[in-house]
Amino acid sequence: MTAAPSRAPSPEGSSAADARSAPAGVAYDRSDWSSAFRNVGVELSAVPLVAARGTIPSELAGTLYRNGPGRLERGGHWVHHPFDGDGMITALRFEAGSLQLSNRFVRTEGWLAEEAADKVLYRGVFGTQKPGGPIANAFDLRLKNIANTQVVRLGDQLLALWEASSPHALDPDTLETKGITLLDGVLKPDEAFSAHPRLDPGHHGEPRLVTFGVKAGPTSTVRLMEFATTGDQAGQLLADDSYSFKGFAFLHDFAITPNWAVFLQNAVAFNPLGFVLGQKGAAQCLSSKPGQQGQFWLVPRASGAFTGQKPRLIKAPEGFVFHHLNAFEDASGEVVVDSIFYADFPSIGPDVNFRTIDFDSLPEGQLKRCRIDLTTASVSLELLEPRCCEFAMVNPAHQGLAARYGWMAVAEREHGNDPLQAIEKFDLLSGERRVWSASPRGFVNEPVMVPYPQASADGAAPAAGQAEDLGWVLLLVWNGARCASDLVILDAATMAEQAVVELPLALPYGLHGTWSPA
Ligand code: CO
Repeated sequence: MTAAPSRAPSPEGSSAADARSAPAGVAYDRSDWSSAFRNVGVELSAVPLVAARGTIPSELAGTLYRNGPGRLERGGHWVHHPFDGDGMITALRFEAGSLQLSNRFVRTEGWLAEEAADKVLYRGVFGTQKPGGPIANAFDLRLKNIANTQVVRLGDQLLALWEASSPHALDPDTLETKGITLLDGVLKPDEAFSAHPRLDPGHHGEPRLVTFGVKAGPTSTVRLMEFATTGDQAGQLLADDSYSFKGFAFLHDFAITPNWAVFLQNAVAFNPLGFVLGQKGAAQCLSSKPGQQGQFWLVPRASGAFTGQKPRLIKAPEGFVFHHLNAFEDASGEVVVDSIFYADFPSIGPDVNFRTIDFDSLPEGQLKRCRIDLTTASVSLELLEPRCCEFAMVNPAHQGLAARYGWMAVAEREHGNDPLQAIEKFDLLSGERRVWSASPRGFVNEPVMVPYPQASADGAAPAAGQAEDLGWVLLLVWNGARCASDLVILDAATMAEQAVVELPLALPYGLHGTWSPA
């Protein structure tokens, strides 16, 4: 984040179409970016904080939960990829203009064992090896559930999620780890449970948490689950269906509409030999299949118009997708899916140090729109935003519906691949953008859009007629000047800065988070 006194937003107001002119050039210091890779050395409990600049909006009432890797090194042995770091939860609790900060590592079995031994005892999915080379790692096929990807409230539990295994239940107030949860018998031990649940704001009555688990293999099985989130039923399983598909499924995220759960099966192959022999992490054994197309899997949702029917399989455009912005059904019945596409599967090879990664050698993410015509089983593709982006979301009340705005993390430069330094509000109708930037010394995490709480009783949907962009964007920024993290609160409509809170924490780049209304 800039040390300069002026921190005015830079609403650009230009359309995506004429954004191609005048590339700004790279304007960040690599050591500022890489200084975020460190261990979190402290756990705080309800520490009161005040804004260093601006004012915390008094209407913000609830908790921002964030998850991400908090431990990247042990005994001088570093992770091969930050995604292998142990999950650590940050909670920022807002009430009447005041703010409290807590953070806790998730007490996973692996974290507890490694704390006790003070050395690395497990391999990581993204290529972290135990000390001792391939001989020490070969045939150790245990997965360390690091609980580091997402954190979400379900009923009276807070769940720390990692997609290859069971959720960990935490106390929503103290962040104390209660342990692995199988959700009252819904899950089998070690069953995969996605880190990307979607909150249905009430397409079929009450709001629901819709999520999935994947059992991958030559034939892969996707289990689609819907949970109640409100009232006495909160946390209860309402719908549960499993579907099998040919091929190895790599599904990190999905999208929902009122009638469909939308999966994009990337064209990837999995050859586990390097993992078995101790040379690679499991995720490093994924490779793209050049020239081959992925596939959309449209699975009918329970309570939807197509329930009971078979999933629809439709060829997808080339490219690789981790994350979707949103999906919806338009008036003609087409299913529209907005996703962040990469030209190829971005992977860090076994011989590469993540700190010295050459951004120019990796494909950037770009927001693209697929329109799926179910009658012809065809897809049309449109580039919405060429600027390098990741971590996009719509107003949660518009999840699964046509939304006008998306908020996402973007690179400062209009073209090319760079670290994420700015937040963009993107008008999906007009292409207009507004950008708030933390450059040259700040680096952003995922933005979380929080609607203004003039809401219905359950807090899920804003009042009828409320503007879609009325609310705030909350985000954590790595401040390279301070070598610490800042909370930044933006006006979601104008992208003007409302407040900056300098946290007494240094948090490595995180993954995902959610807002839990009071
Ligand atoms: Co993700």
